[in-house]
Amino acid sequence: MSIKNQIITDRLPRHVAIIMDGNGRWAKKQGKLRMFGHQHGVAAVRDTVEGAAELGIEYLTLYAFSTENWNRPAIEINALMELLVNTISKETKTLMDNNIRLNAIGDIESLPGRCNKNLKAAIDKTAGNSRMTLTLALSYSSRWEITRAIKNIAQDVKDGKLNATEINDSLVEKYLTTAGIPDPELLIRTSGEYRVSNFLLWQIAYSEFYFTNKLWPDFRREDLFESIVSYQNRDRRFGGVNESTNAKHA
Ligand code: FPP
Repeated sequence: MSIKNQIITDRLPRHVAIIMDGNGRWAKKQGKLRMFGHQHGVAAVRDTVEGAAELGIEYLTLYAFSTENWNRPAIEINALMELLVNTISKETKTLMDNNIRLNAIGDIESLPGRCNKNLKAAIDKTAGNSRMTLTLALSYSSRWEITRAIKNIAQDVKDGKLNATEINDSLVEKYLTTAGIPDPELLIRTSGEYRVSNFLLWQIAYSEFYFTNKLWPDFRREDLFESIVSYQNRDRRFGGVNESTNAKHA
């Protein structure tokens, strides 16, 4: 049976988030510059997005550029931004043809002007699409997002728009950049690293983690399917007790 056929279609995760990692190592293994890896990473993005849409995943979130990535050499940052601009512009038609909505989370205003402009244009153009929401985390870090939420909540309390007694889980969620998007049930990280790297720290409270040794440029839809099969074989208890196993969750 193919890996895709092993997926139980009525028990799909609604939201899959991916930490795309290993582009640099992939390039180095071939004696090439890091940028070569990022360029090949685009093919992995394309195939994964298509595979997710084909399955019926509602939300796919990709960690494309972290706040910490600004510490990389300027030459790599500039080339990555250029690659993002070109990819977004080139792929907008495919997103339209496949009814995919583009979204972005992160400090988008900190992106270079052209990148910001193209991104916003693609987001506006695809705003009416409904098959899947593809969110790019750009200049994103979870601590940035949570700090921003705390500041905005404090300001609203100060302005009398909010009473401090109203602050609870669901209110905090409304102040995050992912407001309105369900928490990811599945978080994937490539390249054999077992870290979360400041990604969706609030939202992954109950996510299942899937780690693969594949470097991001080698990742394809079959790898996504495999991660979903693994997810479906797990016992999610959300801190409670599962009737079938009667086991307490740690
Ligand atoms: C991590 O590999 C990858 C990135 C920081 C960039 C991801 C960007 C792309 C795949 C390009 C296009 C993306 C979109 C959404 C169009 P790394 O550089 O940290 O690799 P390393 O850990 O091996 O050094």
